[in-house]
Amino acid sequence: MKFTVLTIFPEMFAPFNESILKRAQAAELIKIELVNFRDYAESKHKNVDDIPYGGGAGMVLKPEPIYKAVNSLEKTGKSRILLLSPQGKVFDQKAAQKLAAYDNLIFLCGHYEGFDERIRSLADEEISLGDFVLTGGELAAMAIIDSVARLIPGVLGKANSSEYDSHSQGLLEYPQYTRPPDFQGMKVPEVLLSGHHDKIEKWRRKESLGRTFLRRIDLIPQIEFQPGDYQLLEELCLEYPEIEPYRHRWEHLKPAAKSKKRKQSL
Ligand SMILES: C[S@@+](CC[C@H](N)C(=O)[O-])C[C@H]1O[C@@H](n2cnc3c(N)ncnc32)[C@H](O)[C@@H]1O
Repeated sequence: MKFTVLTIFPEMFAPFNESILKRAQAAELIKIELVNFRDYAESKHKNVDDIPYGGGAGMVLKPEPIYKAVNSLEKTGKSRILLLSPQGKVFDQKAAQKLAAYDNLIFLCGHYEGFDERIRSLADEEISLGDFVLTGGELAAMAIIDSVARLIPGVLGKANSSEYDSHSQGLLEYPQYTRPPDFQGMKVPEVLLSGHHDKIEKWRRKESLGRTFLRRIDLIPQIEFQPGDYQLLEELCLEYPEIEPYRHRWEHLKPAAKSKKRKQSL
Protein backbone atom coordinates (compact mmCIF):
# COMPACT_ATOMS: atom_id res chain seq x y z
CA MET A 1 0.00 0.00 0.00
CA LYS A 2 1.24 3.47 -0.85
CA PHE A 3 0.77 6.54 1.36
CA THR A 4 1.44 9.83 -0.40
CA VAL A 5 1.67 12.95 1.74
CA LEU A 6 1.54 16.48 0.35
CA THR A 7 3.21 18.76 2.85
CA ILE A 8 5.52 21.76 3.06
CA PHE A 9 7.28 20.13 6.04
CA PRO A 10 8.45 16.68 4.85
CA GLU A 11 11.15 16.63 7.57
CA MET A 12 8.39 16.28 10.16
CA PHE A 13 7.88 12.67 9.04
CA ALA A 14 11.05 11.37 10.72
CA PRO A 15 9.01 9.02 13.01
CA PHE A 16 8.43 6.79 9.97
CA ASN A 17 12.16 5.97 10.03
CA GLU A 18 11.73 4.04 13.27
CA SER A 19 10.35 0.77 14.57
CA ILE A 20 7.44 -1.10 12.96
CA LEU A 21 6.78 1.25 10.05
CA LYS A 22 10.48 1.37 9.21
CA ARG A 23 10.50 -2.43 8.97
CA ALA A 24 7.26 -2.45 6.96
CA GLN A 25 8.83 -0.09 4.42
CA ALA A 26 12.00 -2.19 4.24
CA ALA A 27 9.84 -5.27 3.63
CA GLU A 28 7.95 -3.32 0.91
CA LEU A 29 4.62 -3.89 2.63
CA ILE A 30 4.06 -0.14 2.58
CA LYS A 31 5.58 2.79 0.73
CA ILE A 32 5.54 6.33 2.13
CA GLU A 33 6.03 9.07 -0.45
CA LEU A 34 6.51 12.67 0.75
CA VAL A 35 5.76 15.41 -1.77
CA ASN A 36 6.72 18.99 -0.93
CA PHE A 37 4.10 21.05 -2.72
CA ARG A 38 6.32 24.11 -2.40
CA ASP A 39 8.21 22.55 -5.32
CA TYR A 40 5.10 23.20 -7.42
CA ALA A 41 4.81 26.90 -6.55
CA GLU A 42 5.28 29.12 -9.59
CA SER A 43 6.37 32.40 -7.97
CA LYS A 44 10.02 33.37 -7.74
CA HIS A 45 10.01 32.95 -3.97
CA LYS A 46 8.06 29.69 -4.10
CA ASN A 47 5.20 31.12 -2.05
CA VAL A 48 2.50 28.61 -1.14
CA ASP A 49 0.36 30.96 0.98
CA ASP A 50 -1.15 34.41 0.78
CA ILE A 51 -3.28 36.82 2.82
CA PRO A 52 -6.99 36.04 3.10
CA TYR A 53 -9.50 37.94 0.97
CA GLY A 54 -11.74 39.99 3.23
CA GLY A 55 -8.96 40.46 5.76
CA GLY A 56 -8.23 38.66 8.98
CA ALA A 57 -5.27 37.07 10.69
CA GLY A 58 -2.95 34.44 9.26
CA MET A 59 -2.10 33.14 5.83
CA VAL A 60 -4.11 30.83 3.59
CA LEU A 61 -2.67 28.06 1.41
CA LYS A 62 -2.96 28.94 -2.28
CA PRO A 63 -4.73 26.54 -4.62
CA GLU A 64 -2.26 26.43 -7.55
CA PRO A 65 0.69 24.55 -5.94
CA ILE A 66 -1.56 21.90 -4.36
CA TYR A 67 -3.57 21.38 -7.57
CA LYS A 68 -0.36 21.07 -9.58
CA ALA A 69 1.15 18.63 -7.07
CA VAL A 70 -1.97 16.45 -7.00
CA ASN A 71 -2.21 16.40 -10.80
CA SER A 72 1.41 15.33 -11.10
CA LEU A 73 0.98 12.31 -8.84
CA GLU A 74 1.22 8.84 -10.22
CA LYS A 75 -1.77 7.21 -8.55
CA THR A 76 -1.52 3.51 -7.83
CA GLY A 77 -4.62 1.26 -8.08
CA LYS A 78 -7.62 2.21 -5.94
CA SER A 79 -6.76 5.63 -4.57
CA ARG A 80 -8.40 8.18 -2.24
CA ILE A 81 -7.53 11.80 -1.56
CA LEU A 82 -7.90 12.83 2.09
CA LEU A 83 -7.83 16.42 3.24
CA LEU A 84 -6.85 16.91 6.87
CA SER A 85 -9.03 19.41 8.65
CA PRO A 86 -10.59 20.01 12.07
CA GLN A 87 -13.85 20.41 10.11
CA GLY A 88 -13.75 16.83 8.75
CA LYS A 89 -15.33 13.62 10.00
CA VAL A 90 -13.61 12.52 13.19
CA PHE A 91 -11.27 9.59 12.50
CA ASP A 92 -11.78 6.28 14.31
CA GLN A 93 -10.85 2.59 14.04
CA LYS A 94 -13.73 1.86 11.63
CA ALA A 95 -12.43 4.60 9.31
CA ALA A 96 -8.94 3.08 9.58
CA GLN A 97 -10.35 -0.32 8.57
CA LYS A 98 -12.11 1.20 5.54
CA LEU A 99 -8.99 3.09 4.43
CA ALA A 100 -6.87 -0.07 4.72
CA ALA A 101 -8.76 -1.42 1.66
CA TYR A 102 -7.22 1.20 -0.68
CA ASP A 103 -3.99 0.83 -2.66
CA ASN A 104 -3.00 4.49 -2.42
CA LEU A 105 -4.00 7.08 0.17
CA ILE A 106 -3.10 10.67 -0.62
CA PHE A 107 -3.02 13.15 2.30
CA LEU A 108 -3.28 16.92 1.92
CA CYS A 109 -1.73 18.61 4.94
CA GLY A 110 -2.80 22.15 5.65
CA HIS A 111 -0.85 24.71 7.66
CA TYR A 112 -1.20 28.30 8.90
CA GLU A 113 -4.87 29.39 8.65
CA GLY A 114 -5.68 26.41 6.43
CA PHE A 115 -6.66 25.87 2.81
CA ASP A 116 -8.15 28.13 0.18
CA GLU A 117 -11.70 26.78 0.01
CA ARG A 118 -11.25 25.66 -3.63
CA ILE A 119 -8.65 23.06 -2.55
CA ARG A 120 -11.45 21.13 -0.82
CA SER A 121 -12.86 20.09 -4.21
CA LEU A 122 -9.74 17.95 -4.81
CA ALA A 123 -10.54 15.74 -1.85
CA ASP A 124 -12.69 12.60 -1.69
CA GLU A 125 -13.01 13.02 2.07
CA GLU A 126 -12.15 15.47 4.87
CA ILE A 127 -10.76 13.86 8.01
CA SER A 128 -10.24 15.31 11.46
CA LEU A 129 -8.12 13.76 14.17
CA GLY A 130 -10.45 15.12 16.83
CA ASP A 131 -12.23 18.21 18.03
CA PHE A 132 -9.13 20.28 18.59
CA VAL A 133 -6.93 22.38 16.34
CA LEU A 134 -3.38 21.46 15.37
CA THR A 135 -0.86 23.82 13.78
CA GLY A 136 -0.72 21.60 10.70
CA GLY A 137 -2.06 18.41 9.14
CA GLU A 138 1.26 16.56 9.44
CA LEU A 139 0.72 15.06 12.90
CA ALA A 140 -2.81 14.05 11.90
CA ALA A 141 -1.52 12.40 8.70
CA MET A 142 1.13 10.52 10.69
CA ALA A 143 -1.41 9.24 13.21
CA ILE A 144 -3.77 8.08 10.45
CA ILE A 145 -1.02 6.44 8.39
CA ASP A 146 0.27 4.64 11.49
CA SER A 147 -3.16 3.27 12.38
CA VAL A 148 -3.97 2.18 8.80
CA ALA A 149 -0.52 0.66 8.15
CA ARG A 150 -0.72 -1.62 11.20
CA LEU A 151 -3.88 -3.19 9.73
CA ILE A 152 -2.05 -4.28 6.59
CA PRO A 153 -1.27 -8.00 6.77
CA GLY A 154 2.31 -8.65 7.79
CA VAL A 155 3.03 -5.17 9.18
CA LEU A 156 2.62 -6.25 12.81
CA GLY A 157 4.43 -9.53 12.30
CA LYS A 158 1.67 -11.79 13.56
CA ALA A 159 -1.34 -11.68 11.23
CA ASN A 160 -3.89 -11.39 14.04
CA SER A 161 -2.10 -9.03 16.42
CA SER A 162 -4.62 -6.23 15.85
CA GLU A 163 -7.75 -8.42 16.09
CA TYR A 164 -8.40 -7.80 19.79
CA ASP A 165 -7.05 -4.26 20.00
CA SER A 166 -9.32 -1.66 21.53
CA HIS A 167 -12.03 -0.53 19.09
CA SER A 168 -11.49 -3.43 16.67
CA GLN A 169 -14.80 -5.07 17.62
CA GLY A 170 -16.34 -2.00 19.18
CA LEU A 171 -14.80 -2.93 22.56
CA LEU A 172 -11.87 -1.75 24.65
CA GLU A 173 -9.12 -4.32 25.06
CA TYR A 174 -8.93 -6.55 28.14
CA PRO A 175 -6.07 -6.01 30.67
CA GLN A 176 -2.71 -7.46 29.65
CA TYR A 177 0.01 -8.77 31.99
CA THR A 178 3.52 -10.11 31.61
CA ARG A 179 6.12 -11.46 34.05
CA PRO A 180 6.55 -11.32 37.01
CA PRO A 181 3.36 -12.94 38.31
CA ASP A 182 3.56 -10.86 41.50
CA PHE A 183 4.86 -7.28 41.28
CA GLN A 184 4.92 -5.38 44.58
CA GLY A 185 1.94 -7.38 45.76
CA MET A 186 -0.05 -6.74 42.55
CA LYS A 187 -0.82 -10.21 41.27
CA VAL A 188 -1.63 -11.44 37.79
CA PRO A 189 -5.17 -12.88 37.79
CA GLU A 190 -5.05 -16.65 38.48
CA VAL A 191 -6.99 -17.54 35.36
CA LEU A 192 -4.22 -16.19 33.12
CA LEU A 193 -1.72 -18.54 34.76
CA SER A 194 -4.06 -21.53 34.49
CA GLY A 195 -3.29 -22.43 30.87
CA HIS A 196 -7.01 -23.08 30.43
CA HIS A 197 -7.63 -21.53 27.03
CA ASP A 198 -11.46 -21.40 27.17
CA LYS A 199 -11.49 -19.84 30.63
CA ILE A 200 -8.91 -17.26 29.55
CA GLU A 201 -10.97 -16.33 26.48
CA LYS A 202 -14.10 -15.95 28.63
CA TRP A 203 -12.26 -13.83 31.21
CA ARG A 204 -10.85 -11.59 28.51
CA ARG A 205 -14.23 -11.13 26.86
CA LYS A 206 -15.81 -10.27 30.21
CA GLU A 207 -13.07 -7.76 31.02
CA SER A 208 -13.44 -6.15 27.59
CA LEU A 209 -17.19 -5.83 28.00
CA GLY A 210 -16.82 -4.52 31.56
CA ARG A 211 -14.23 -1.94 30.61
CA THR A 212 -16.29 -0.69 27.70
CA PHE A 213 -19.48 -0.37 29.75
CA LEU A 214 -17.68 1.30 32.65
CA ARG A 215 -15.39 3.62 30.72
CA ARG A 216 -16.98 4.33 27.34
CA ILE A 217 -20.76 4.05 27.32
CA ASP A 218 -20.69 6.03 24.07
CA LEU A 219 -19.16 2.95 22.39
CA ILE A 220 -21.99 0.60 23.39
CA PRO A 221 -23.94 0.99 20.11
CA GLN A 222 -20.85 -0.20 18.21
CA ILE A 223 -20.30 -3.41 20.19
CA GLU A 224 -20.50 -6.56 18.11
CA PHE A 225 -22.18 -8.72 20.76
CA GLN A 226 -21.76 -12.49 20.80
CA PRO A 227 -24.33 -14.99 22.16
CA GLY A 228 -22.17 -15.82 25.24
CA ASP A 229 -22.09 -12.16 26.25
CA TYR A 230 -25.48 -12.37 27.98
CA GLN A 231 -24.13 -14.47 30.85
CA LEU A 232 -20.98 -12.34 31.17
CA LEU A 233 -22.96 -9.10 31.25
CA GLU A 234 -25.35 -10.47 33.86
CA GLU A 235 -22.32 -11.35 36.02
CA LEU A 236 -20.83 -7.90 35.46
CA CYS A 237 -24.12 -6.30 36.40
CA LEU A 238 -23.95 -7.95 39.83
CA GLU A 239 -20.37 -6.75 40.32
CA TYR A 240 -20.99 -3.23 38.95
CA PRO A 241 -24.58 -2.06 39.58
CA GLU A 242 -23.86 1.10 37.53
CA ILE A 243 -24.12 -1.10 34.42
CA GLU A 244 -27.72 -2.06 35.28
CA PRO A 245 -29.37 0.91 33.44
CA TYR A 246 -27.89 -0.43 30.19
CA ARG A 247 -29.43 -3.90 30.53
CA HIS A 248 -31.75 -3.21 27.57
CA ARG A 249 -28.62 -3.25 25.39
CA TRP A 250 -28.00 -6.95 25.97
CA GLU A 251 -31.42 -8.32 26.85
CA HIS A 252 -31.95 -9.50 23.26
CA LEU A 253 -29.08 -11.96 23.80
CA LYS A 254 -31.00 -13.84 26.50
CA PRO A 255 -31.02 -17.52 25.54
CA ALA A 256 -34.54 -18.85 24.90
CA ALA A 257 -35.83 -20.91 27.87
CA LYS A 258 -35.76 -24.62 27.07
CA SER A 259 -39.24 -26.11 26.77
CA LYS A 260 -40.00 -28.50 29.65
CA LYS A 261 -42.64 -30.30 27.64
CA ARG A 262 -41.40 -33.63 26.52
CA LYS A 263 -42.36 -34.93 23.18
CA GLN A 264 -45.04 -37.48 23.71
CA SER A 265 -43.87 -40.84 22.51
CA LEU A 266 -46.01 -42.26 19.85
C1 LIG B 1 -4.43 25.91 12.28
S1 LIG B 1 -5.20 24.72 11.30
C2 LIG B 1 -6.41 25.64 10.44
C3 LIG B 1 -7.75 25.58 11.07
C4 LIG B 1 -8.81 26.36 10.31
N1 LIG B 1 -8.54 27.77 10.39
C5 LIG B 1 -10.18 26.04 10.91
O1 LIG B 1 -10.54 26.70 11.88
O2 LIG B 1 -10.85 25.11 10.44
C6 LIG B 1 -4.02 24.37 10.08
C7 LIG B 1 -4.11 22.98 9.47
O3 LIG B 1 -3.88 22.02 10.46
C8 LIG B 1 -4.58 20.83 10.14
N2 LIG B 1 -5.42 20.48 11.29
C9 LIG B 1 -5.69 21.24 12.38
N3 LIG B 1 -6.47 20.60 13.25
C10 LIG B 1 -6.71 19.38 12.73
C11 LIG B 1 -7.46 18.27 13.17
N4 LIG B 1 -8.11 18.27 14.30
N5 LIG B 1 -7.48 17.18 12.39
C12 LIG B 1 -6.82 17.15 11.21
N6 LIG B 1 -6.08 18.18 10.74
C13 LIG B 1 -6.03 19.29 11.49
C14 LIG B 1 -5.39 21.09 8.89
O4 LIG B 1 -4.74 20.55 7.77
C15 LIG B 1 -5.45 22.61 8.85
O5 LIG B 1 -5.59 23.10 7.54
